[in-house]
Amino acid sequence: MIQGPRVVLRALSRDDLSRLHQFNNDVEVELAGGGDPPLPQSLERLQAEFDSGLGGGRDGTSFAIEVDGVYIGSCALFSFDHVARRAMLGITIGDKAYWCQGYGREAVQLLVEYGFRHHNLHKVWLEVHGRNERAIRAYRACGFVEEGRLRQHVWSDGAYDDLVIMGVLHHA
Ligand SMILES: CC(C)(COP(=O)(O)OP(=O)(O)OC[C@H]1O[C@@H](n2cnc3c(N)ncnc32)[C@H](O)[C@@H]1OP(=O)(O)O)[C@@H](O)C(=O)NCCC(=O)NCCS
Repeated sequence: MIQGPRVVLRALSRDDLSRLHQFNNDVEVELAGGGDPPLPQSLERLQAEFDSGLGGGRDGTSFAIEVDGVYIGSCALFSFDHVARRAMLGITIGDKAYWCQGYGREAVQLLVEYGFRHHNLHKVWLEVHGRNERAIRAYRACGFVEEGRLRQHVWSDGAYDDLVIMGVLHHA
C-alpha cells in the first residue's frame, strides 16, 4: 500500500502469521521491542485473534513491513489524539537477519510521512528503552529528538533501564 525505495508497508495477511508467531516467541526480539516481559504465544491463539478481527472495514493504522516480497515485521501508529493531532509510533522488525540494514529507518520514515500527509498529524512520538541504541539511532536518522527521559523507569531483562521519549514535529 505504501511503497518506499526498498520497503513496502501493507496489510498483515493470514499467510504472515507463522512468521509473526516466530517473531513473537523470540525473546531477543520481544525484549528489544520493549513493553511487557516476554510471554509465550501459540500459533493457534494468534490465528484466532487474527480471525476474530476480520469482518469488513479496514485494518486501521497497522502495517506489515515487506522487503523483496518477504514479511519481516510490523509497524503502527496508535494512541491518536485528534485534538492535539499527535499519535505514537511502534515498530518491530521480527526477523533479526534484517536488522541494521536501514530497513527500520525507511519504514519509520514512510509511516511518519503517512501520518503527516494522510492523517494531518502535527506530531509523532514514541517511547524507547535507553539501552536500545539501535532503535534510538534509527529514530534520530528520521528526525526524532529526545524530549525526555524517565530514569530507571522500566525493568527489562533483569535490570532497570531509562524510558526515553522521542518525538518529531511536522514542519519542524
Ligand atoms: C529498532 C529497529 C526498528 C531499527 O531498524 P534497523 O533497520 O535495524 O535500523 P537501521 O539500520 O535503520 O539503523 C540502526 C542504527 O543503529 C546502529 N546500531 C546497530 N547496532 C547497534 C548497537 N548494538 N549499538 C549501537 N548502535 C547500533 C547502526 O549503526 C545504525 O545507526 P547509524 O546508521 O547511525 O550508524 C529494528 O532493529 C527492530 O525492530 N529491532 C527490534 C525491535 C525494536 O527494538 N523495536 C523498537 C522499540 S522502541
